[in-house]
Amino acid sequence: MKVPQVLYETAAEISGARHTHAWTRALDFMLMELTDRWSLTPDPQPTSPWAGCESLVIPVLTAQGVPAIVRFAAPNTDNPQVHDQILTALRAWDGRGAVQVLADDPSFRATLQERLRTDTNLSALPLEQVPEVWGQLAQALRVPGPSGLVRVQDIAAGWLERFEADSALLRDFPDFTPADWSVVNAARLWIDRLARSEESWLLHADLHYYNILAGHPDAHGIATWKAIDPQPLTGPAAYMIAPLLWNRMTEIPSTEPEGQAAWLREFATELCRCAAVDPALGLGSAIAREVENMFWYLRSAQGGTQKAWGDATRSLWVARALSHVSVHGIDAHRLKPLG
Ligand SMILES: Nc1ncnc2c1ncn2[C@@H]1O[C@H](COP(=O)(O)OP(=O)(O)O)[C@@H](O)[C@H]1O
Ligand SMILES: [Mg+2]
Repeated sequence: MKVPQVLYETAAEISGARHTHAWTRALDFMLMELTDRWSLTPDPQPTSPWAGCESLVIPVLTAQGVPAIVRFAAPNTDNPQVHDQILTALRAWDGRGAVQVLADDPSFRATLQERLRTDTNLSALPLEQVPEVWGQLAQALRVPGPSGLVRVQDIAAGWLERFEADSALLRDFPDFTPADWSVVNAARLWIDRLARSEESWLLHADLHYYNILAGHPDAHGIATWKAIDPQPLTGPAAYMIAPLLWNRMTEIPSTEPEGQAAWLREFATELCRCAAVDPALGLGSAIAREVENMFWYLRSAQGGTQKAWGDATRSLWVARALSHVSVHGIDAHRLKPLG
């Protein structure tokens, strides 16, 4: 089966061309096998198959004629546990706030899931309506964290260990100014808070606009937004806010940089309020994550990826805005978009 180029390239980057080539060659066989085993009928749509950077998604009908999808996760030699972890999370949510899993095959890294509306994700909603919807979804997903998942506390402890070495990368980052040390110091304090957090919720750490799809109405005519594609962790609920703050920057409703920064702070605070999260910890966790993203981009830039500078600048902009530090006249609408 031919898979979209972005999926092929990402998989090849992580697991090598040999694994990726073998996987794409096996897809036809795996689909045929699962179609028989799970009594499915192919149900091709004008835009299908669908894909992100990590999986191929194929529309099918169940034996009862219900629209569903088969999702094949690409090989991931970096984290061979990832498929099991995603399944653990989706099973714990059991269709409440997240897509329902109908069947799975761990050896093929395949899941049969209810079909949501592929063409309608949360980016279709005007920004001012987002906090209410996102906050409700975040609350629906708040269940005690199952064991066996990576803990935010451990991630944060790892960040603390590397913090001095990572901060040294800032010397070569032209956009970094002395005033930005207050942002970096604040991030360090928030990372320390995350490392010592006693909260242990199941988290979707990648709950951005494009991983939230509209559902089809159920038997009672009720349709809700549902999360897909979790990056499952356990830890404090405040950790989930950040991915909504580094997307849709061009839509921030102001043309004046300090006004844009103020808008983002207000938006983040509203997200926290709607998700029943302490705003200080919500904004603090987002500052921590964006400073860590900046470090990650700076390490890639060291490896010769020039485009990473633009990504580091966007992360710094968001962390400045949330920290109430000047964004130095940089227009959010001109920042490099994610991806
Ligand atoms: N349950 C689903 N129903 C309908 N479409 C889906 C479903 N799950 C995924 N998709 C479509 O497939 C795309 C990729 O799926 P996703 O699970 O996000 O994979 P990736 O890990 O590659 O981002 C989504 O952006 C969406 O268009
Ligand atoms: Mg996705």
